[in-house]
Amino acid sequence: MSIEIKNVSYIYAENTPFESIALQNINWEISEGSFWVILGKTGSGKTTLIQTLNGLLIPKEGKVIVDNIVIKDRKEDIKKIREKIGIVFQYPENQFFLPTVFEEIMYAPKNFNKNISKNELIKILRLVGLDESFLNRNPFSLSGGEMRKVAIASVLSYDPKYIIFDEPTVGLDYEGRKKIWDIIENLKKTGKTIIIVTHWIDELIKFKPNVLHIHNNEISYIGSFDDFILLGEDELKKKNITFSEKIKLYYCSLKNNIKLEKLFQY
Ligand SMILES: Nc1ncnc2c1ncn2[C@@H]1O[C@H](COP(=O)(O)OP(=O)(O)OP(=O)(O)O)[C@@H](O)[C@H]1O
Ligand SMILES: [Mg+2]
Repeated sequence: MSIEIKNVSYIYAENTPFESIALQNINWEISEGSFWVILGKTGSGKTTLIQTLNGLLIPKEGKVIVDNIVIKDRKEDIKKIREKIGIVFQYPENQFFLPTVFEEIMYAPKNFNKNISKNELIKILRLVGLDESFLNRNPFSLSGGEMRKVAIASVLSYDPKYIIFDEPTVGLDYEGRKKIWDIIENLKKTGKTIIIVTHWIDELIKFKPNVLHIHNNEISYIGSFDDFILLGEDELKKKNITFSEKIKLYYCSLKNNIKLEKLFQY
């Protein structure tokens, strides 16, 4: 099973003075159980791309096929696809609309007619590092890191196979970021397919995800994490990737075939 993206292009406000090309001819296959990072500078089309994966945006050109279901406008298909693909959005506070954390987390399973027991709910809360005392809180009263955790819990609540995180650590401090990466690591261990949109590849060395890099709304690199780093400083800078000290060290370790794995634990 997989998500296949075939020749997908996406244009906002087509045939109006505000027309803007967001994606051009994207071809990509996400097999079940794989781990991907989407990189690319601001405005390159990352969020647009992930929104085409679960039918939030439907491209006029090209096809998105999720576990053999082609995404079209058909409501029943889109519902099935949304149940398979969960997205934790860039700004979780924009997602919340219910008065308590409990209702937020229970909303999606109810919508998909999935029962979730108290024990399962507590297990999910623990996985994201929250406890029962949060259930009666108003989501808008939480800190940025706590909101992020509730947003993740409300996606885990309906157990999607594919989970997409759009900039999951942006705006969080070191501890907050570390907690999010721990959650993602645990999810990976449970066999979920994970796609992360981020600007900071330093934090990903430990995971070595496959890389999809978008430049000017087109794919400019698709392949392994190590081969991406081995493109070297000049090429990565051209791709708007910060060649930090940590990346430099990792690059040198790859070039010289020295194992420094322990250094790159987050
Ligand atoms: N609702 C919209 N209407 C019109 N144009 C849009 C809309 N959303 C995005 N765009 C345009 O589409 C292009 C891709 O935007 P997108 O949000 O996918 O980029 P991104 O890579 O996620 O950027 P960022 O890193 O800033 O989140 C940009 O040029 C953007 O201005
Ligand atoms: Mg974005």
